[in-house]
Amino acid sequence: MSQFRRIVVLTGAGISAESGLSTFRDGGGLWDNHRIDEVATPEAFDLNPDLVQRFYNQRRRAATKAQPNAAHLCLAQVEPQCEHWTLVSQNVDDLHQRAGSQHVLSMHGQLDQYLCVNCHKEGNITGELSTQDVCPHCHKVATLRPRIVWFGEMPLYLDDIMTNLMACDLFVAIGTSGTVYPAAGFVEIAKRNKAHTVMLNLDGTDNLLFDKTITGQASQIVPAYFYDELGFKR
Ligand code: APR
Repeated sequence: MSQFRRIVVLTGAGISAESGLSTFRDGGGLWDNHRIDEVATPEAFDLNPDLVQRFYNQRRRAATKAQPNAAHLCLAQVEPQCEHWTLVSQNVDDLHQRAGSQHVLSMHGQLDQYLCVNCHKEGNITGELSTQDVCPHCHKVATLRPRIVWFGEMPLYLDDIMTNLMACDLFVAIGTSGTVYPAAGFVEIAKRNKAHTVMLNLDGTDNLLFDKTITGQASQIVPAYFYDELGFKR
């Protein structure tokens, strides 16, 4: 059994890459093909809601078709074996949930949920969102947006995340370029609180705050690390 009792895991787009979902900053990634200020800000939604809805409908269709891979399944397997487990994801797909992870802090929101800009109620999306949709709560038209945290908006669950970061003895970042804050700063908080810090990623990192870096495909290095190195049961 692992010597670590309070584990925080942060995942990024790289953990879903082998499930067929685009990352953001790899060659040909989402931000290679779309301008952030056209599809991922509140101003973009005000200016051109149809374009924004099309962008997220396409990502929702891709996410629905994708399947969790061995990395998602491993994290779900380890969760009940760990005394205190916190899984934070920057991803908006539902692959962690579909892999069986019970408690996922989706800090950038979720593709399968809407938010009404009029009454601020949220709900599950089945299918697509459009500017013709009527909010089931306040009955206004064209007020349903994807429940995604856009650039310039406050990520979700930050209090809960900070509390767990300050108390963890192991912090593992998986498949993230560490370029977007506040997630990019989590390793520093964990380090300051004497946690062991590990990066599992296709590309290495020159971030000296990581005690250990293992490079490779998430579907291989995540199970190898949690099962073979930390001793959790498959
Ligand atoms: N296995 C492991 N890591 C991988 C794999 C793989 N198969 N494929 C890619 N990676 C790594 C890449 O090397 C890169 O470091 O995943 C990382 C993906 O980085 P980004 O594309 O920047 O994605 P992410 O870090 O999740 O972006 C953070 O930025 O645009 C915002 O809201 C968006 O949540 C996103 C945030």
